[in-house]
Amino acid sequence: MKAIVVTDQAAGMAGMTLVERPEPEAAGNDVLVEVHASGFTPGELSWPSNWTDRLGRDRTPSIPGHELAGVVSALGYGTTGLSVGQRVFGITDWTRDGTLAEYVAVEARNLAPLPGDVDFTVGASLPISGLTAWQGLFEHGRLRAGQSVLVHGAAGAVGSMVTQLAREAGAYVIGTGRAAHRQPALSFGTQEFVDLDNDALEDVGGVDLVFDVFGGDIGQRSAGLVRAGGTLVTIAGPPEARPADGLAIDFVVESDRRQLGEIARRVRDGRLKANIGQVATLDDAVAAFNPTERVKGKTVIRVRP
Ligand SMILES: NC(=O)c1ccc[n+]([C@@H]2O[C@H](COP(=O)([O-])OP(=O)(O)OC[C@H]3O[C@@H](n4cnc5c(N)ncnc54)[C@H](OP(=O)(O)O)[C@@H]3O)[C@@H](O)[C@H]2O)c1
Repeated sequence: MKAIVVTDQAAGMAGMTLVERPEPEAAGNDVLVEVHASGFTPGELSWPSNWTDRLGRDRTPSIPGHELAGVVSALGYGTTGLSVGQRVFGITDWTRDGTLAEYVAVEARNLAPLPGDVDFTVGASLPISGLTAWQGLFEHGRLRAGQSVLVHGAAGAVGSMVTQLAREAGAYVIGTGRAAHRQPALSFGTQEFVDLDNDALEDVGGVDLVFDVFGGDIGQRSAGLVRAGGTLVTIAGPPEARPADGLAIDFVVESDRRQLGEIARRVRDGRLKANIGQVATLDDAVAAFNPTERVKGKTVIRVRP
């Protein structure tokens, strides 16, 4: 099969190469999926799990990409819950070869059915960003209607999902980003926008929940914006500062079939818009991940036309 591989962390996305690889086999509780579309998260190549297996053994050259939409083509021993020919989407195992390939083997419990009226390209754009937003807002942030949320990177893949789900839940949403992100962020539903290059973050005042995707200086300053009893939720690693009278939680997204179903339902009925910046074929994927101009939104690789 065709696949994109990486061998050198230092080379980053420029080190991606299109190669021929043997098709993977479905192990116990796995499904083998014919990948139709694949999603890749910026930053993936810095995750240690991209380079090693669960025992820490080197597994390069590894296939990156951990989101997919496709069709189940085989079942491993003992696999239940999904069937051959079924449309699916979801997250693949962090420490195994990923989805920038024609086939991927993945534990069935990580995937959910993809409704027939949701396009594969849309399906592949949702799992990591949608589940991260859902889990950060509702499981870790315990968001309630009427609360205010500061969403960093509101025009990005995760931030745009956070914004839409928070608005639907009845929150007041303040988004941040670069100047050029103002219009996209407003179109996803932010009610105010802070241009981090030109506006003072501290002018936001107090909020009940900060959803941080940056860490660093912005993450630290954001801790001071959390009201008493509020929460700083971050997906950028352990927080370097904590709210004076609130919680700080960092987490890594987990697969969840029920939540994937909630996300698909919202896409079908128009409550949730995908945030796709560009679509490329597997043959053009390396160029697509190394663009000459900044791409707004997610890059999805359409593995099969
Ligand atoms: N812990 C987890 O479970 C988890 C899950 C998903 C993602 N992540 C991580 O979360 C981060 C965001 O992921 P994503 O998929 O949402 O990425 P993304 O689509 O690139 O979104 C990030 C957004 O923030 C903007 N941005 C970046 N740096 C900025 C700065 N200094 N000032 C203003 N705006 C800035 C980006 O703009 P530009 O494109 O112009 O830079 C982009 O619009 C990544 O590091 C990813 O690895 C973690």
